[in-house]
Amino acid sequence: MPRPEPAMSSAAEPPRDCPLCPRLVAYREVNRAAHPDWWNGPAPSFGDPGARLAVVGLAPGRMGANRTGRPFTGDFAGVLLFDTLIRLGFARGTYEARPDDGLELIDCLITNAVRCAPPGNKPETSEEATCRSFLTARLDELPNLKVIVTLGDVSRRNVLRALGLKASAGVGGHGSEFQAGPYTVINSYHCSRLNTNTGRLTPQMFEDIFVRVRTLLDG
Ligand code: URA
Repeated sequence: MPRPEPAMSSAAEPPRDCPLCPRLVAYREVNRAAHPDWWNGPAPSFGDPGARLAVVGLAPGRMGANRTGRPFTGDFAGVLLFDTLIRLGFARGTYEARPDDGLELIDCLITNAVRCAPPGNKPETSEEATCRSFLTARLDELPNLKVIVTLGDVSRRNVLRALGLKASAGVGGHGSEFQAGPYTVINSYHCSRLNTNTGRLTPQMFEDIFVRVRTLLDG
């Protein structure tokens, strides 16, 4: 699926044919052969380069961002995420699960710890490490960034490491909040189908995270 590259630096956004992780490249090639009309490349970050809020997910879902080219777009997790962002004023428009739905993020940018879809939705730790320089640059290139919401523990650990801290510098669990350098990090359970279907994460619990972000940003 064609999608214009956003005007973001190559340090922060891997190229469409990023060669760095052999296993993820092989998976991309399989998906390209089977679905040449899909995006099938690293999903570029999406949102406002002047954002005060960054939301960091895990990695593109095969049928979600890997298909559409926009983080959280086209898979189950995106429904709750974009609905919540719209309700809290961090997005405007209607989420229609396609990259040309006109949805706009306001004061918010969404990216992933790992930019390519991993088999079984599980990146290897070596892939997280390899992709981390993009995450570091992505966060560095947000001049107004104040708050980072991490979706799940893998995201939380990668954000801390991307900021040059130990993964143990912040605690896990839903709603945990800590300072990481100049940023406040708030960890949320991931808005995955598994977490929402089992009731581990309710829409209210998820909304509470972004209510807290709104308070931190605007008092
Ligand atoms: N889609 C993404 O882009 N990231 C996730 O973490 C999950 C789904």
